[in-house]
Amino acid sequence: MNPVTAIVLFLSLLCVVRSSAVTSPPSPYEVLKSYNLPVGLLPKGAVGYDLDADTGEFAVRFNSTCSFSLQGSYQIRYQPTVTGRISDGRLRDLKGVSVKILFVWVNIVEVDRNGDQLEFSVGIASADFPVENFDECPQCGCGMDCGDASKEEEEETRRVKLRSQI
Ligand SMILES: *[C@@H]1O[C@H](CO)[C@@H](O)[C@H](O)[C@H]1NC(C)=O
Repeated sequence: MNPVTAIVLFLSLLCVVRSSAVTSPPSPYEVLKSYNLPVGLLPKGAVGYDLDADTGEFAVRFNSTCSFSLQGSYQIRYQPTVTGRISDGRLRDLKGVSVKILFVWVNIVEVDRNGDQLEFSVGIASADFPVENFDECPQCGCGMDCGDASKEEEEETRRVKLRSQI
């Protein structure tokens, strides 16, 4: 066997090993990313999902109802099962996600990505938010302002790094 054949064989073997090692299905967060949508559209703690790759119909499951507020103003609530239809940069026919507007819970029925903006539609009205606001998954209860230890540690490491650079 000449060396080139040997290398090609070795590389293709590596690929086989690698692809068979990746047997676990993608997480629902990875599915969002693969459709050009940010992971922060789903809170942490999804325990499973179904996705029909042909129609884009999906169902995501959580252990319980999840609610939190975003930017201290919008109260958001996820039912234990959220369903809808996903396509590139778009969620349609959403059921199970609501936002409180003037004391009333209103269903968010559609999310559309337009460049670096996300448009949330409740049917009669819609609002745009920067996609980057959804780079991280909110946590049930505290949303984005959980002040958890790991975040503070990250901040501290960053500060130390900055200091050592000066
Ligand atoms: C969901 O519930 C199951 C069974 O009670 C538990 O094992 C699991 O840790 C829970 N997952 C989350 C994310 O809370």
